[in-house]
Amino acid sequence: MSQNHQWMQRDLRVLWHPCTQMKDHERLPLIPIRKASGVWLEDFDGKRYLDAVSSWWVNVFGHANVRIGERVKAQLDTIEHVMLAGFSHAPVVELSERLVAITPDGLSRVFYADNGSSGIEVALKMSHHFWVNSGQAQKKRFITLTNSYHGETVAAMSVGDVALFTDTYKALLLDCIKVPSPDCYLRGEGVSWEQHSREMFAEMEKTLAEHAGEVAAVIVEPLIQGAGGMRMYHPIYLRLLREACDRYQVHLIHDEIAVGFGRTGTLFACEQAQITPDFLILSKALTGGYLPMAACLTTDNIYQAFYDDYASLRGFLHSHTYTGNPLACAAALATLDIFEQDDVIRANRALALHMQKAFAPLAAHSHVAEVRQTGMVLAVEMVADKASKRPYPWQQRRGLAVYQHALSRGALLRPLGSVVYLLPPYVITPEQIDFLAEVAFEGIELATRETEAFSYADKRYPDFRDTG
Ligand SMILES: Cc1ncc(COP(=O)(O)O)c(C=O)c1O
Repeated sequence: MSQNHQWMQRDLRVLWHPCTQMKDHERLPLIPIRKASGVWLEDFDGKRYLDAVSSWWVNVFGHANVRIGERVKAQLDTIEHVMLAGFSHAPVVELSERLVAITPDGLSRVFYADNGSSGIEVALKMSHHFWVNSGQAQKKRFITLTNSYHGETVAAMSVGDVALFTDTYKALLLDCIKVPSPDCYLRGEGVSWEQHSREMFAEMEKTLAEHAGEVAAVIVEPLIQGAGGMRMYHPIYLRLLREACDRYQVHLIHDEIAVGFGRTGTLFACEQAQITPDFLILSKALTGGYLPMAACLTTDNIYQAFYDDYASLRGFLHSHTYTGNPLACAAALATLDIFEQDDVIRANRALALHMQKAFAPLAAHSHVAEVRQTGMVLAVEMVADKASKRPYPWQQRRGLAVYQHALSRGALLRPLGSVVYLLPPYVITPEQIDFLAEVAFEGIELATRETEAFSYADKRYPDFRDTG
């Protein structure tokens, strides 16, 4: 029996995997990874896979990065953890100073959580609490875009709108207001991204005019709706939204958990709209894929609404045990060093251009409706009918066929439904991008070849979508 198989059997006896229908593993092999380096993952039988999705957006500088690893190792010998209530330490002070320095002007305070969803909860609670402290407790609802994803905890799910993840739990969710997404995949023939995003803003304006009095904040994934299928929109929408939020006195929350740290072509997506949100949430690439951590940045105006004598009960008494963990801070500091020292954003421009060229031929494929790209994220939308953009029935799991083909060729290209995408580590080479384009082309060719009869044995389970 192969080593992979042995580990898989042990795993499947005791684990429950995230975002997985466990029964799938009766026929889909689980891949136990023994070690990883750079863009490569290696399984227990020695097969290598190019990690084209940076292990869910995190490993931007590749696996086993020496510069990050050394910093974390050094931190281990100094202070591994101390609670952050009543105590502090050098890495958390340094990290906070640096985050304030590199994010847009006006963001001056950092509150930490230990994963993206918890970071979202911090922003939602802080926003409503600000209004409570300002004598406007009725401002307790949130506006969100259709097709959004903000995480898995209950409030984070409430501001999400990907049915696969939220529908089952709808009895538990907060009552949020949903506004149609500016998603440019849905634009009309001949309409530019900018024009479409601008036009879609009318719905948001209308909703704000109607509901501002009861709304605490609008929350968005800036420029790319990740788990919703890598749907993209123009920065003009964010600019218009900032202006409207100011006019209607509603907070603007930017969830840059996925898109922060260079993914969209700038260090932060909000830079492309030249705006400062009231809350900016960062996670994932923040620690280069080493340790879980989230940071919620906010303004002095918000901070001051909480600053008072203890007995006023205006303080933000929210905590997570691992808030500001020193090891995670060390990993984040090393990650920021790499961004600074290696001029990463500039180097990424050439890589993004290479991605664009390598994948451009796929646009002509008879079952590809769109090849879209924002910075270092490229997505290919497979459809049943190109002219009408009619999607494949989800039960057919076409993306899963691409995933399986890619694994056989040595690439990890995990799809979202019928959307094949790549968001590679920034240390990828042009040749490796060409390899991924070749694998994606073959996979899409295979997955779309069959027509009517194409389906997997068990149709009961939802599409093979994950949280990006
Ligand atoms: C945009 C966005 N927000 C929030 C989250 C949730 O982060 P976490 O999985 O760390 O809870 C994710 C995760 O994929 C995400 O993509």
